[in-house]
Amino acid sequence: MIQAHGGTLVQRFEPTYDVTNMTKEIELDSFSLSDLELIGIGAFSPLNGFLGEEDYESVVKNMRLADGTVWSIPITLPTTEERAESLEAGDLVKLVYNGDVFGVIEVTDKFTPNKEVEAEHVYRTTDDAHPGVKKMYERPNVYIGGPITLLKRVERDKFDTYYLDPVDTRAKFEELGWKRIVGFQTRNPVHRAHEYIQKSALEIVDGLFLNPLVGETKSDDIPADVRMESYEVLLDKYYPKDRVFLAVFPAAMRYAGPREAVFHAIVRQNYGCTHFIVGRDHAGVGDYYGTYDAQLIFQDFEKSELGITPLFFEHSFFCKACGNMASTKTCPHGKEDRVILSGTKVRQMLSEGVTPPPEFSRAEVVEVLIRGMKQQVHA
Ligand code: ADX
Repeated sequence: MIQAHGGTLVQRFEPTYDVTNMTKEIELDSFSLSDLELIGIGAFSPLNGFLGEEDYESVVKNMRLADGTVWSIPITLPTTEERAESLEAGDLVKLVYNGDVFGVIEVTDKFTPNKEVEAEHVYRTTDDAHPGVKKMYERPNVYIGGPITLLKRVERDKFDTYYLDPVDTRAKFEELGWKRIVGFQTRNPVHRAHEYIQKSALEIVDGLFLNPLVGETKSDDIPADVRMESYEVLLDKYYPKDRVFLAVFPAAMRYAGPREAVFHAIVRQNYGCTHFIVGRDHAGVGDYYGTYDAQLIFQDFEKSELGITPLFFEHSFFCKACGNMASTKTCPHGKEDRVILSGTKVRQMLSEGVTPPPEFSRAEVVEVLIRGMKQQVHA
């Protein structure tokens, strides 16, 4: 089994940890609650807490922790100036969400980041119309760093069987006898192009780990519970049961394109994957990133720096002249033969109850999505 990034799978869940004498607390937002849990279960190995200043600066500018380990997205704990004032290094502080204590941080650092610099490096833009940049600007202005302990798991009412920790997915892959496992990140339904690149990858490995991101996404992305149902019907009808495993990635989406592709790959290594799919405009939004920037960024690392192997796929689509799914790499025909729809167009069609063509999306998937979108509107 592949090692966790950095060598050791971090485990910091201690439900019996005693907080009775702790008076100080930090209020989490849904972003930091999700980060806390992901650190605690080792999905963000080797991180054992929220970044301190030295690691933060190094991640922002060099895509590496201060010790040189590759890490591309700053995982930070923002709090207000007022709250930060009462905190000092050495404090043990409760991490609270909606009145419940979910964790404890041992404060080592308290610093005020230059958010424009963070935006420029991590998101390649300081434009606050970028959803990731906007979110970062909106969050409070002081970052608290230090190791955490996770005390309580987030409760999920729906699809709870799909929430597996890295230790669980690793055990599952062992049980299935898979040695080479390709991870697939998505914040969308699985359309034909996704299916094509997943199955192309599956041809050369033992198993596919379909690992949709279900944490916070921007409001016009298709909601996770609608997507989950669409994955279930698709897998049931079109994928071999013994070659695919579905579990969710409960992280927030940053829309940081290339930087997030590296982060997504590292995290999937922690879940036990040996390979990771990076297609067209991975984790991108609008026109902020070039079509293949999220692939090119992997050239910034030595082979020895990343355990997981990225698998790159060009823009894929159904081509009527080929009579097949194909990509810009394998299809010689022109635009007029290719069935390509933008994400925005598809969402618009679905919300108006219009069916995208079967060359774009499986009928069973579309049916679930249209029904789901209707229920959202009426909810
Ligand atoms: S993402 O924000 O989670 O990356 P999305 O769900 O659209 O968004 O993509 C999941 C993965 O499929 C990414 O690696 C992306 O690059 C890839 N991908 C999506 N659509 C295509 C396509 N038409 N051709 C090739 N790769 C694609």
